[in-house]
Amino acid sequence: MIETVFLTGATAGIGEEIAIEIAKHYNIVLSGRNIQKLEALKEKCSTNNNVFILPLDLSDFENLEEKIITFLSHNQLTIEKFVHCAGFMKMVPLKLVSQDLMLETFKTNVFSASIIIKLLNSKKNNNSSLNSVVLISSNISNRGAKAMSTYGSSKSALDGLMRSLAVELAPKVRLNSILPGAVLTKMTKAIFENEEVSQRMAAYYPLGIGTSNDIADAVLFLLSDQSRWVTGQQITVDGGRSINITG
Ligand SMILES: NC(=O)c1ccc[n+]([C@@H]2O[C@H](COP(=O)([O-])OP(=O)(O)OC[C@H]3O[C@@H](n4cnc5c(N)ncnc54)[C@H](OP(=O)(O)O)[C@@H]3O)[C@@H](O)[C@H]2O)c1
Repeated sequence: MIETVFLTGATAGIGEEIAIEIAKHYNIVLSGRNIQKLEALKEKCSTNNNVFILPLDLSDFENLEEKIITFLSHNQLTIEKFVHCAGFMKMVPLKLVSQDLMLETFKTNVFSASIIIKLLNSKKNNNSSLNSVVLISSNISNRGAKAMSTYGSSKSALDGLMRSLAVELAPKVRLNSILPGAVLTKMTKAIFENEEVSQRMAAYYPLGIGTSNDIADAVLFLLSDQSRWVTGQQITVDGGRSINITG
């Protein structure tokens, strides 16, 4: 039986590459906010496996669970694997951090993942079929940077969620997170457009700046049985950036 992967944040950057790679090996549910982008991505997934699309705004808490439950029951689908790639990042210095920003960031990056994992692990809604979860965190999760307190703390919370659930849901469900370094996408475009910052960053990366494909390869490993004895781990995929202390 071919298993089915539910992927959030499929409509851009890293998520799009993850979608294309996953669709080669599994059935996939592509989720994002924009239905046109989801339909275009479905066309791009060259595969004989099933590709479903599910438009969702992850910050719309009131309706999130109901929409997923209706989708699963309408398609008579069960989900075995979940990849949470959706992420919201706004660089804001502390004096400008608002409650709205904190809520939108945590709803999108953390709380939605918790709700979806709960739903997919349930007998009633998904026949307890969930067996593997990969959360796309960030290398800021264990570190710090200016204007990143909201985004950074959301990724730390995401990794905390991952560790506790890895213990609570074992041995049935494995959960791990990937901590990417800098990858050029819509999210990081503004950073890379600054020539000086871009050159400085490139110099910090022993293996150079990464691509979305580097992250997709790590996701496939964590979803597969090749990682059957790996759970509760933060896997850093950053070209060696985090271990480089060259002055
Ligand atoms: N790029 C990097 O260097 C880097 C480094 C470390 C970690 N990451 C993490 O990697 C993941 C992907 O990043 P990226 O660079 O590919 O980002 P991106 O190009 O900005 O894409 C973000 C994705 O999240 C979705 N999203 C945002 N808010 C949402 C919401 N409220 N509801 C549903 N979907 C929502 C976006 O959907 P729409 O198309 O609807 O906007 C899009 O698919 C994120 O979790 C990010 O934090 C990225």
